[in-house]
Amino acid sequence: MTAAVAPQLIDRFGRTVDYLRISITDRCDFRCVYCMAEDMVFLPRAQILSLEEIYTLAQAFTELGVKKIRITGGEPLVRKGALELLQSIGRLHGLQELVLTTNGSQLESMAVALQAAGVKRVNISLDTLDADKFKAITRTGDLAQVIKGIKAATAAGFERIKLNAVILKNRNHQEVCDLVGFAVEQGVDISFIEEMPLGVVAQHNRSDAYYSSDSIKADLAQAFALLPSTATTGGPSKYFQIAGTDTRVGFISPHSTNFCSTCNRVRLTVEGRLLLCLGNEHSVDLKQVLRTSPGDGAALQQAIIEAMQIKPEKHEFNIHEQPVILRYMNMTGG
Ligand code: GTP
Ligand code: 5AD
Ligand code: SF4
Repeated sequence: MTAAVAPQLIDRFGRTVDYLRISITDRCDFRCVYCMAEDMVFLPRAQILSLEEIYTLAQAFTELGVKKIRITGGEPLVRKGALELLQSIGRLHGLQELVLTTNGSQLESMAVALQAAGVKRVNISLDTLDADKFKAITRTGDLAQVIKGIKAATAAGFERIKLNAVILKNRNHQEVCDLVGFAVEQGVDISFIEEMPLGVVAQHNRSDAYYSSDSIKADLAQAFALLPSTATTGGPSKYFQIAGTDTRVGFISPHSTNFCSTCNRVRLTVEGRLLLCLGNEHSVDLKQVLRTSPGDGAALQQAIIEAMQIKPEKHEFNIHEQPVILRYMNMTGG
């Protein structure tokens, strides 16, 4: 008798998809300048998936071989019931890693409960250590609150916490050494991200604000020894170890180093749209499948399997032109 082969999601380019990112809300208590317009209009309730629908979708994906789920937003922790949802997704059979990306604003009160709910790792956005700059970049955020959140997360005992910093030239590029110093002090990792052109932003010109990962590496080399590392978290970060510390510095470089050939992920928006690539609009409406055939797990799985056929080979980001993708980052959580 031959053993049953576990199902897998494989696209036309032979890439196995085993990582699902779920945006559980498009709402956020911040309005970061690279992520949103100042006067964002959020989705009405009828248009978004219920928590039960999100759970059903997560279950279908794990049955199809997804091993890692990252919960994102907007800010995922502003959605009522987020903790209970995480608890139930964390118990899904076959899931090896439940992780979360957050702006940190709610972590002071929620870190312990999140860790108990089964969240293994958290990525926390932090672009600057200057309170005024923080307010200017996030438009509404309070740096002190986020620092308290980071400390609560380290105390709660998550595995490898990672800070995310989107670096903009002449806005926060001068702070890369200080940010790494802070990460070392807190015993956490940090990734530097090149801004991606999603949605129209009014405050800055993305081409002028481009600051490459290589420039950041050169700046860091003045203060730290960066040792190449083979570490990977299954995401696009290329890691370096800071000599003499436990801290890793990652670089997410969609413009300077394309990483699409190893893409292992798809994204579910809170509208129930399965997005096959962050930088393209190819998608399948899973909410419609869910709502027209409630309880039909086979139809749902079939729609997900078929969706792999339209996963694009790569993104075509061009920061020197008007964005082609009008969807803002808060719809997909990165
Ligand atoms: P791990 O899963 O732990 O490796 O985390 P991550 O760094 O992939 O996830 P996180 O949510 O912290 O996102 C950090 C940045 O990586 C965000 O700006 C994302 O937009 C970016 N990112 C993640 N996946 C992709 C991708 O497939 N394509 C592009 N262009 N960017 C991505
Ligand atoms: N380009 C790159 N990263 C972005 N993020 C939000 N908007 C953008 C963008 N336009 C980052 C956030 C967060 C992560 C999930 O995505 O800072 O850390
Ligand atoms: Fe909110 Fe994150 Fe977007 Fe900032 S980057 S506005 S914290 S969703």
